Amino acid sequence: MPPMAEQVQSGAVARDRVADSVVLPIGSAVNEQGHLEVGGCDVLAVAEEFGTPAYIYAEDDLRARARAYREAFERRGVDGEVLFASKAFPATAAYKLFAEEGLSVDVASGGELHLALAAGFDPSRIHMHGNNKTDEEILMAARAGIGHLILDSFDEIERCERLLDAPIKVLIRVTPGIKPSTHDYITTGQLDSKFGFGTGDATGAQRAIERVLASEKLELVGLHAHIGSQIFELEPYRLAIAALGELAGDWCKVVDVGGGLGIAYTEDDRPPAIDDYVGVKVDGVREVFGDDVRMMIEPGRSLVANAGVTAYRVGTVKEIPGIRTYLAVDGGMSDNLRPMLYGSRYEALIADRVLADPDTLATVAGMHCESGDVIVRDAMLAAPAVGDVLVTPATGAYGHAMASNYNGVTRPPVIFCRGGEARLVVRRETFDDLTARDV
Ligand code: LLP
Repeated sequence: MPPMAEQVQSGAVARDRVADSVVLPIGSAVNEQGHLEVGGCDVLAVAEEFGTPAYIYAEDDLRARARAYREAFERRGVDGEVLFASKAFPATAAYKLFAEEGLSVDVASGGELHLALAAGFDPSRIHMHGNNKTDEEILMAARAGIGHLILDSFDEIERCERLLDAPIKVLIRVTPGIKPSTHDYITTGQLDSKFGFGTGDATGAQRAIERVLASEKLELVGLHAHIGSQIFELEPYRLAIAALGELAGDWCKVVDVGGGLGIAYTEDDRPPAIDDYVGVKVDGVREVFGDDVRMMIEPGRSLVANAGVTAYRVGTVKEIPGIRTYLAVDGGMSDNLRPMLYGSRYEALIADRVLADPDTLATVAGMHCESGDVIVRDAMLAAPAVGDVLVTPATGAYGHAMASNYNGVTRPPVIFCRGGEARLVVRRETFDDLTARDV
């Protein structure tokens, strides 16, 4: 044990580290027992009550970021909609919360549309994407009376014309030929993309516009571009908006400039603030399109990622002398695929001893049957031991969304914490759920 003075000192530093953390949910703290608190709830108590692994969200954090987006629009007098890109966190409770906060929603499939409708979204505030929408999805969207269908291909234009009885408002998705710095798998604005219509002659945004303007079933009202995700630069958005401007005509009353704002996965990450990001998009749209267009943006990750953490239980500690210490937790690639898919880095901490110095170098592995099932390589942790609750921050986006039943694992619950109250909003799957679809 370090001497008392040193413990207190390091405790104070650790408290500040939690309070000032850029990865933990807003309002995270350390309680008297030295446990991590999220949304006023002791993470150990939540783990005890709901089991592990578990996705734990600070509800106030989700609301604060939604408000930050809306206020960034309001402050600039923007006539527009902030769409929750629901692929980042497709849980009914999240749709409900963002509907309450006055957001609209972007859905990318019939399933997401179903969730948005089930959560009570006004259909006119639902906008639908997808690079291969099926007949059923197009009909479902039209019958529900959604705000806009975002057209992605010539085949989809034909499909809509064949299927629809009455005209529907549409935007055209443009790939403006902009490639921001982020992982290749999540860039979407470059010409070599499965999404949308390119700006050059070959892939035909201009042809698509002419084609849709001539259509009786499709009412063209605007343009859309989403250039990628987890982006820290702001300049590429300006370029994308300028490229959209080249295509616009009198018919262009709506400009949807997508999502993409990056978030802090590690304490060293410094993404732009929501307000600055929105500011660049608003200035860009005003400069290119003037004041008379309705503006839409589609944040996903930046609304939800830092609001959530994942709590795991440490089950084994394996020290390979001179090589590495492996901690195995009770989840892994089935609840967070991002490290395996994109090589993403995360922080990790022991929720039981947040005030203790992180003194042990260890690699946090999952329980799946693959060596690649590593959640955090080389994490510094406070004397990790079997039975501890280990937390990975910044798992609120694309974690629950991309979870699987690999190795027959039941997908974790989602818990919303607020003012010290923990509310289960998605229950853990059961073994019966695993056989529920058998016929
Ligand atoms: N709008 C469209 C049309 C999109 O395709 C996306 C994300 C968004 C908005 C929201 O982007 P965000 O604000 O979240 O960056 N699974 C990956 C991310 C895939 C993003 C797909 N599209 C990951 O875990 O990093």
